[in-house]
Amino acid sequence: MGSESNPSTVRDFTVYLTRRFPEPVSRILEPLFEITLNDSNSPVGRDELLSQLETADGLLCTLSDEIDGEALARAQRLKIVSTYSAGYDHIDVDVATNRGIYVTNTPDVLTDATADLTLALMLALSRRVVEGHNLIISREWDMPWFPSFMLGSDLSKKTIGIIGFGRIGRAVAKRARGFGMKIRYHNSVQVSKAVEVELDARYSPLETLLMESDFVSIHLPLTNKTRNLISYEMIKLMKRSAYLINTSRGMIVDESGLADALRREEIAGAGLDVFNTEPLTESSPLLEVNNILLTPHLGSATVGTRYRMGEMAASNIRNVLLGIEPVSLVNSEVRRRRPL
Ligand code: DGY
Repeated sequence: MGSESNPSTVRDFTVYLTRRFPEPVSRILEPLFEITLNDSNSPVGRDELLSQLETADGLLCTLSDEIDGEALARAQRLKIVSTYSAGYDHIDVDVATNRGIYVTNTPDVLTDATADLTLALMLALSRRVVEGHNLIISREWDMPWFPSFMLGSDLSKKTIGIIGFGRIGRAVAKRARGFGMKIRYHNSVQVSKAVEVELDARYSPLETLLMESDFVSIHLPLTNKTRNLISYEMIKLMKRSAYLINTSRGMIVDESGLADALRREEIAGAGLDVFNTEPLTESSPLLEVNNILLTPHLGSATVGTRYRMGEMAASNIRNVLLGIEPVSLVNSEVRRRRPL
């Protein structure tokens, strides 16, 4: 990027923001670059996005902006796509790499928040927290305490099967250990002995993990290999008493298969933060079942986490446009196409 990145000329760089972002974004980017933004919480229209891409040097987007081949083909000046998310399945990374466009994301800073929400779903489901709240609010709590009232299941001494043992999967394992759970995991590669010992975690083939776990929690990126991985057949392998939790990407689970399994009580329940289509459509079969707990993609939704995601996403843009290594690069091969 050499001479283009000369600090005296960076003011000529335009950065397009597809949403309102937290304060660190403007603090980091505004003194350096020309900023244009969609000053809204709603997604920018497709035509507007394509037209902004024609003149942008940097793009700060979210997971609901589709940055596909068509969008990238319009981007003649673009040097970086910085997504305000850990997941980057909404970006065509191969096309970006071929066009010499850096793709960056915001891992690490959202690990704890997402792992916390996973445990929140497990606890709320297994201890029927929302059901109990609704019972009171609807004025239907009409019996004094009795021994068999609203019984749930323990976490302690139960087995959690974690599918995907990266940062978030391991953070879930750490928390689950605190609750006295046994940890099994499945991952594309077995992790080091040291990590297994530290987390007291045992590797399992996927089918075995599904058959033996009391809670199955998904922590995978969405790729061609993981799309629909948790099919109805896979769900059927689970114990009737087991719960399925997904805080990663909705497309990994076959939603109609899951709804069928829940309706037939082939598993005990599901806690979902992510969906095939977001927001969830009115026709979703998931809205027709009872033994389910749904949250609207809240994994990273804490003030502190979103602030840190803003710092990271903006720093990535600043760095690449100034010719400095970004904090978290997705496509390291791009360096060969367009060295910094
Ligand atoms: C991500 O970052 O990929 C989450 O889904 C949203 O924070």
